[in-house]
Amino acid sequence: GKVSLTGIKPTGEVHLGNLVGAIRPALRLAEQYDSLYFIADYHALTTIRDAEELRHYSRSVAASWLAAGLDPNRTTFYVQSDVPEIFELSWVLSCVTGKGLMNRAHAYKAARDRNAETGDDPDTGVNMGLYNYPVLMAADILIMETDVVPVGKDQSQHVEYAADIAGSFNHLFGDEYSFKIPQGFIPESGTGDILPGLDGRKMSKSYDNTIPLFLPENKLKKLVRRIPTDSTPVEAPKDPDSSAPFQILRQFAPPSAADVVADTRKRLEEGGMGWGELKNVLFEVLNTELAPMRERYNAYMEPGSELDEVLSRGAERARERASRVLSAVRKAVGVA
Ligand code: TYM
Repeated sequence: GKVSLTGIKPTGEVHLGNLVGAIRPALRLAEQYDSLYFIADYHALTTIRDAEELRHYSRSVAASWLAAGLDPNRTTFYVQSDVPEIFELSWVLSCVTGKGLMNRAHAYKAARDRNAETGDDPDTGVNMGLYNYPVLMAADILIMETDVVPVGKDQSQHVEYAADIAGSFNHLFGDEYSFKIPQGFIPESGTGDILPGLDGRKMSKSYDNTIPLFLPENKLKKLVRRIPTDSTPVEAPKDPDSSAPFQILRQFAPPSAADVVADTRKRLEEGGMGWGELKNVLFEVLNTELAPMRERYNAYMEPGSELDEVLSRGAERARERASRVLSAVRKAVGVA
């Protein structure tokens, strides 16, 4: 069958953007595809420098996937660092990857642009992990013979890079072994494909503007109140598509809340619904959907829960697969 694979970096608590952009589409694909989902802990090491923190977020991201409905019996669910084959492949791939390709990667370019603004040396604060990040991600994808990678739009360049890198390898060694060429799977969610955060920019751990999935109810309510809106008065007609709380509502709402979304849109457009009321609607929809997940999350986070057992079974299955591909690659390049 076709293979679906994706990862989340444990650099913070899982947030609404991760759920909408990656987890939900991944869980939908898992119904038909052979699916592999993982915690990208070595990717997180490019920014996290505290062992306790990294351990906590790895557990928390894993518990979030399970709380959201991942079935570990039907999906190979693992932690990246438990599969050393990935890192060995990463070296091989880096030897067939042009340095120029890495120079053009978004995250690296963004770091250089920030340094240009402040007049610092162009590579200040850039470690080799950040620079090589796309190669490691290509290894994650290629080692599992992935067909589709469900990701948010912000990750689509990385998936294209994985396809490019596979192409270079196949061009050089294709007589011996060829990687499957992966494709991104970017969920259609209408006008906005990136969920906005608490400041209206893309919701992102690196902007510190996220709504984490499993906050206690009162904290969730407080955060929803903080989403920015303009000063259009209650009676005035409003444009729902340029409003962050409405965008979050529209992208997040499960099918069961479709009527609420349609009705809210209509009332905003006609005038008579204020931003405060919109935020109450958003909170209710969020909380209804998240409350049962929050309970499951808390149970998985308890020490001694089945979480560790689930991940160690996943690691075993993932290694079995990865080592098959790695052996073929080692032979193809001449180290075996
Ligand atoms: P990460 O951890 O930044 O994000 C995890 C997933 O969530 C999506 N996402 C969003 N989607 C919509 N709106 C948003 N505001 C939003 N914020 C995040 C991301 O697009 C992503 O799909 N490099 C990856 C992790 C990774 C990976 C992989 C992914 C490592 N190896 C192999 C796929 C395949 C990352 O940093 O995602």
